[in-house]
Amino acid sequence: MFWDALWQGLIDARVAYVAGALVLLTVIARRMPPATRPRPRVPTALLVLVVVLVVATAAEVASGYDARWTMLAAQGLALISGVQIALALCFRVGLPAAGVRLPRILVDICTAAAIGVALIWIGQHAGLSVAGLITTSAVLTAVIGFALQDTLGNVMGGLALQLDQSVRVGDWIALGHGQPSGRVVEIRWRYTSIETRAWETVVVPNSMLMKGVVVVSGRRVGEPAQLRRQIDFYVDFRLPPGEVIDAVLGEVGEREVRHVARTPAPQVLLVALRDSVAHYQLRFWLTELALDEVVDSDVRVRLVYALRRRGIELAIPSQAVLLTADSEARDARLAETAASDRRATIAAVALFAGLEPAIQVALARELTAAPFTAGEVVTREGERDDSLFVIARGHARVAVAQGAASREVARLGPGDFFGEMALMTGEPRSATVVADGELRCWRIDKAAVERALTAHPALAEQLAEVLAERRVQLDAARDGGGAGKVATAKQDLMARISRFFGR
Ligand code: CMP
Repeated sequence: MFWDALWQGLIDARVAYVAGALVLLTVIARRMPPATRPRPRVPTALLVLVVVLVVATAAEVASGYDARWTMLAAQGLALISGVQIALALCFRVGLPAAGVRLPRILVDICTAAAIGVALIWIGQHAGLSVAGLITTSAVLTAVIGFALQDTLGNVMGGLALQLDQSVRVGDWIALGHGQPSGRVVEIRWRYTSIETRAWETVVVPNSMLMKGVVVVSGRRVGEPAQLRRQIDFYVDFRLPPGEVIDAVLGEVGEREVRHVARTPAPQVLLVALRDSVAHYQLRFWLTELALDEVVDSDVRVRLVYALRRRGIELAIPSQAVLLTADSEARDARLAETAASDRRATIAAVALFAGLEPAIQVALARELTAAPFTAGEVVTREGERDDSLFVIARGHARVAVAQGAASREVARLGPGDFFGEMALMTGEPRSATVVADGELRCWRIDKAAVERALTAHPALAEQLAEVLAERRVQLDAARDGGGAGKVATAKQDLMARISRFFGR
């Protein structure tokens, strides 16, 4: 009796079909990548419950009890489990395989609707009219209405967001101005989840997104997604603003900084003059919205170095000025230290080592500090400018373009110099020199070298010799072989130097 009832129960609850579908889903899911793989935990749990209920039904039948309701529950749960499996096969396996990706909220709503229909169907089988019950019982309708008020608000909000595309997956949004923003990762039937830059996930009910102000960062009609950032800095108000603006734009505007947009171009504004400082604002457009503070920092570093190279110091807050008692003796001491540093630098450079001390001192006076940060380009192949750099601290890599790639030809360190070729011949830079870590250089311009050449004509020959050797090396690196003759190159360079310096 028990076994017959059990067998009949398993057939009535369609356990075999549901179990078959579950096995099919599990086998297919195994072959899918873990990130998108469906995990049918709920249908499996429901199926286990169905089996338990069927066993209970058989026990009830065997002991002569009425098993109608237990069987109905088993059938109902089996139906819900089957619906869930079918939906997973359709939405998580079939449609993605066909290249169709439905918004998550649609999948959620279809699932809820299918389960609702299944429940009504079960109710009708049991002789209950769920629809009739809801429409005829005013109290029940009111209770359900109140209970679903928020949920319906969220569902409608989620659907509206999807339909009008005001907020899309991937957008960076903030709930109001000045609030922290995050990237939308999912819009579901009840909430929208947002991942912040601090690795938090914020769950926002859809109705809140509909009712409140939502700021979508970096979005402008017809433009790529990029966000304006601003960096404030202060400089002594006596410095010509044009010089400050040129120095910063020359670095951040013209040279490439990662994740800074070329259009719109960066801008520098003089925003205020007060407390003996000029307040400037560097504005740029960020292309990788996730890296806002990281790129701000990179830009700030480039700004500081660009200003230092032009001899522009960032302004010290006036409170600090009051605390630092500057004395003439202290100034003289600092100036003397700086001067002896420069003399030591000149004396350490092989090129200038043979010069008379007086010329060395004169040259040392002409040095300007030029610090660079890691990865900054000091000279760019093909560009025109005429400064010579002597490395005081750090290293630099010299590379030449070879087709689309670039090839390193030398690595220079303290005491080495570069940039002499353009300086001496007026030609465009022959190679790109990049700071390999923090790099401190001294810069000498053409006028200073011209004065040294006048005082010490043999310097031209010394320079031509180094130039010739490097030129031959460069040609070899570019052509990949056939080093030319240093002597011929030297003669040629001497002629060019004389022409350029008008001798
Ligand atoms: P310039 O052409 O003015 O700018 C790039 C500089 O790279 C160049 O001057 C040289 O100073 C330097 N340079 C080029 N080739 C070499 C090399 N083979 N070894 C060392 N430095 C080089």
